[in-house]
Amino acid sequence: MNGKEIKLPKLLLGTWSFGNDKWWGAQSSKQSLATLETALDCNINFIDTAPCYGRGNSEKIIGEFLKSRKRNDVFIATKLGLSWKDNSPVIFHDLSPEKMKIELDLSRKRLNTDIIDLYQIHWPDENTPIEKYADMMLDFYNKGFIRFIGVSNFSVKQITEFMRYCPLHTVQPQYSMFFREIEDELVPFCQQNNIKIITYAPLYSGILTGKFHLKSKAIPTDINRKNKINHFKEPLFSIDKKTLQSLVDIANKADLTMAQLAIIWNFSQNGISAAIFGARNPQQIRENSKALNVTISDDDMVLITNILNERDDAIKSIK
Ligand SMILES: NC(=O)c1ccc[n+]([C@@H]2O[C@H](COP(=O)([O-])OP(=O)(O)OC[C@H]3O[C@@H](n4cnc5c(N)ncnc54)[C@H](OP(=O)(O)O)[C@@H]3O)[C@@H](O)[C@H]2O)c1
Repeated sequence: MNGKEIKLPKLLLGTWSFGNDKWWGAQSSKQSLATLETALDCNINFIDTAPCYGRGNSEKIIGEFLKSRKRNDVFIATKLGLSWKDNSPVIFHDLSPEKMKIELDLSRKRLNTDIIDLYQIHWPDENTPIEKYADMMLDFYNKGFIRFIGVSNFSVKQITEFMRYCPLHTVQPQYSMFFREIEDELVPFCQQNNIKIITYAPLYSGILTGKFHLKSKAIPTDINRKNKINHFKEPLFSIDKKTLQSLVDIANKADLTMAQLAIIWNFSQNGISAAIFGARNPQQIRENSKALNVTISDDDMVLITNILNERDDAIKSIK
């Protein structure tokens, strides 16, 4: 019971780094606003955010940006369900109906809008029955506060349960050349049930640009990439480096950058509707948005599949 269909472009801009917090490191509001401005110039006007990105900062910047724009210039996708207490560093799951109502009001206020275009549950909450928070989402939808409903980081089992009580238009899982877990179960399920898949982190937090493995850039200190520290250590470092070198060769021949190749590959995969890439400055937007106008040839797609399968085998052999 999905009702109306959501129409998505191939690319959305993700704004986690606009939060200016330990997860992505320092980021000025000026630079974030310039990034948004460039995104619209490059025909990217679907923007993904969440309250926990900088504890309201990312949403506030988008709200600020909207003051100088018509509301319909931007499609806003935000989320709910990850909370924090004032001075505590801890982020926790809370999808109790009371908290959901508070979150909706706060997001609408920060984003400077009455209606949220796509409202997504960020993570499931083990402490609240799915029926309860699905009912609340349906209530928001029926009251016209949100135009479409999504969930993120849900298993097929959790999605199936959610859909017993509420229409579902999108899911937002992690997916990239280096993280392909959704291919076996989630993708076929969504295809069968007419649910659009919007992937996140198509650049595997920037690692898939090749800049760390092929250009000797220092390991960043933000938590997102510290969490991927194994990719910066042997034996994974050499496996990733070899893979990236082979992929860059394909990108070069096709006159693409590695970032563009990773993004086009992502939204071109079977069952994927769109990819959300993060960008922290206008230059990254200009580079990544070119992915909208190019395709990867069938021959190159086969080569890429072989390279990624070889990487999977190499990783299995070290486990
Ligand atoms: N639902 C969820 O649980 C969830 C989780 C994660 C992300 N997301 C969403 O997905 C979005 C994208 O994910 P992500 O930002 O984590 O990862 P990503 O898109 O894989 O990587 C983005 C990062 O890569 C670097 N980058 C981007 N373009 C580049 C280019 N052309 N050349 C060199 N470096 C480039 C930038 O960081 P540096 O400049 O610092 O290298 C940028 O912040 C987020 O902003 C968020 O909206 C959702």
